[in-house]
Amino acid sequence: MNDWIAFWDSPHAIYVNAHHLDVHYRRIAEDTRRYMPANGRALDYGCGDALHADLTAGVAQQLILCDAAPKLRDTLAARYAGNAKIQVMSPEQVAALPNHSFDFIVMHSVAQYMSEEELEKLIVLFHRLLREDGLFVLGDIIPPKVSALTDAIALLRFARAEGFFFAALFGLVRTVFSNYWDLRSTLGLARYGKDEMLRKLTAAGFWAAEAPKNIGHNQARMTFLGRLEPTHIDH
Ligand SMILES: C[S@@+](CC[C@H](N)C(=O)[O-])C[C@H]1O[C@@H](n2cnc3c(N)ncnc32)[C@H](O)[C@@H]1O
Repeated sequence: MNDWIAFWDSPHAIYVNAHHLDVHYRRIAEDTRRYMPANGRALDYGCGDALHADLTAGVAQQLILCDAAPKLRDTLAARYAGNAKIQVMSPEQVAALPNHSFDFIVMHSVAQYMSEEELEKLIVLFHRLLREDGLFVLGDIIPPKVSALTDAIALLRFARAEGFFFAALFGLVRTVFSNYWDLRSTLGLARYGKDEMLRKLTAAGFWAAEAPKNIGHNQARMTFLGRLEPTHIDH
């Protein structure tokens, strides 16, 4: 397991308290489900805690939650054991699925934690797994010049709007002295410019465009939409 995945699989304080965790995942679920076709088969790749997967599953026929972190998968499987629409899978299980398994695939805030080569392979995999009229949503791509300060300001704005400003301020100070900061300083986060990401999606066979807004609270980052067919790529 790589160091970032081990980090996400262990107790960490990226979400400063339970309220932050709740509003973070609610916002991601609400933004994501706007893109989801009704009654489709959906994949959330690198889903993390997916605290509000019931909201996204609500519009789908089936929702596969996939994450590389094994303990996280166990927690998700236990949390959603009573929801017949939700199934938890490892990346290996997803990679073994047949062609055209999904109408919708989202991968949000994950690309920065993997190598460029791994990302390119995943984009090819998602192209294979989508049905002809399917949609791939690739969110939270960090452009080259966006700094940690920009992330911090975006978090504080979100926290002020959602009523956890002082907890977020304290959380940011704690983050600077944490394992997350060590990893961010040593491993870094993968960053891609808009044209570079559009080229990657196009090289894998997608018709691609940048979405008008990023999913989630951080509008300094970008979301991309990829389709197998050119129809409906503008919105
Ligand atoms: C920042 S969290 C994002 C969670 C959620 N998608 C969100 O937007 O809040 C990153 C997640 O990606 C997962 N992850 C990182 N690299 C991965 C990979 N190569 N394959 C699958 N999951 C991965 C981590 O385990 C972690 O749960």
